[in-house]
Amino acid sequence: MGKDIVQIFDTTLRDGEQVPGCKLDAEQKLVIAERLDDLGVDVIEAGFPISSPGDFKAVVEISKLVKNATVCGLTRAVKKDIEVAAEALKHAKKPRIHTGIGTSDSHIKHKFNSNRDAIIERAVSAVSYAKTFVEDVEFYAEDAGRTDNDFLARICEAVVQAGATVLNIPDTTGYCLPEEYGAKMKYLKENVKGIEKAILSCHCHNDLGLATANSIAGVINGARQIECTINGIGERAGNTSLEEVVMILRQHPDLNLDTNINSKLLFSTSQMVSQKMGMVVQPNKAIVGANAFAHSSGIHQDGVIKNRETYEIIDPEDVGVNESSIVLTARSGRAALAYRAKIVGYELTKRQLDDVYQEFLKFADVQREISDEDIPRIIGACKLDIES
Ligand code: KIV
Ligand code: ZN
Repeated sequence: MGKDIVQIFDTTLRDGEQVPGCKLDAEQKLVIAERLDDLGVDVIEAGFPISSPGDFKAVVEISKLVKNATVCGLTRAVKKDIEVAAEALKHAKKPRIHTGIGTSDSHIKHKFNSNRDAIIERAVSAVSYAKTFVEDVEFYAEDAGRTDNDFLARICEAVVQAGATVLNIPDTTGYCLPEEYGAKMKYLKENVKGIEKAILSCHCHNDLGLATANSIAGVINGARQIECTINGIGERAGNTSLEEVVMILRQHPDLNLDTNINSKLLFSTSQMVSQKMGMVVQPNKAIVGANAFAHSSGIHQDGVIKNRETYEIIDPEDVGVNESSIVLTARSGRAALAYRAKIVGYELTKRQLDDVYQEFLKFADVQREISDEDIPRIIGACKLDIES
């Protein structure tokens, strides 16, 4: 049986761009949108058209440019927002309006000074109005992570009846545990009448470092879309990281789920977004961090040199990284030193390696990392008769 496809909804240009101090200009957004289309994302959330003239223009231009993906614009459950989004999306081959409202008691009371029935009415009106412009309407229940499941099911049922094609269940505050978020999806799958007409979508924030785990729990329990950003960028602790969820599904064939992403473009896309946003990728970031395929301790290096699979679950080439790296530090062993020495042209005998290794440790104790350029100096300091 073929694998079920989980749609990848990229929101780098909308939720991701809400990172303080990381504004993208229109040209940068277009370059990123084109790359996301090549990467194979199913939906590009291009912006929040009513929020500024710049965002409106970016959504218009992205709609004209994108060839394959659905292009989506965010709105509140407000008529004017929906009209402006529809206008911005009018050139898109596959337009989607993403509308919604806060559904947790906290949002209903503090943001809207309202009540549950009135919120359902507003949600239904927004979806029905959006349907007069486009066929594809996604509804978000903001703060669904802290929304009571019975009420969430009620509002979902009402908007599905009004024609919503996708139900976005955001853990807006990054509050849920994976079990809880997964159970929420299962509950909706089992309790929303008409749910087969819509796709459930995970939209998780990373305030407790659980965005990826929650999204995976969501798809295990029936969701078929994940909303995410390149490098996991986004407000506060960010959103679910696209590269992580894609590679988790690929590394776990037992889940019988996959995406349409060309994973070989993940590393270069991560670098591109990092440069354009002026936001560094933390070195230990899963999949795309500078250290994701770097081995520096002796035991690991010895294993990887014998067989990469001893300490690597992903082939670096699968995510567009040329090869794993063996980094020389004071924690490295003889195998790694011999390996790098050979790369720079020195074939050391066992006796020579013993001597060079002692000298290497002296250097490594003062330097953080030993580069290939240091190796001839270290060998020279041993006064051995070795030819390179
Ligand atoms: O986190 C959130 O709830 C959102 C919605 C606006 C979709 O980003
Ligand atoms: Zn969000």
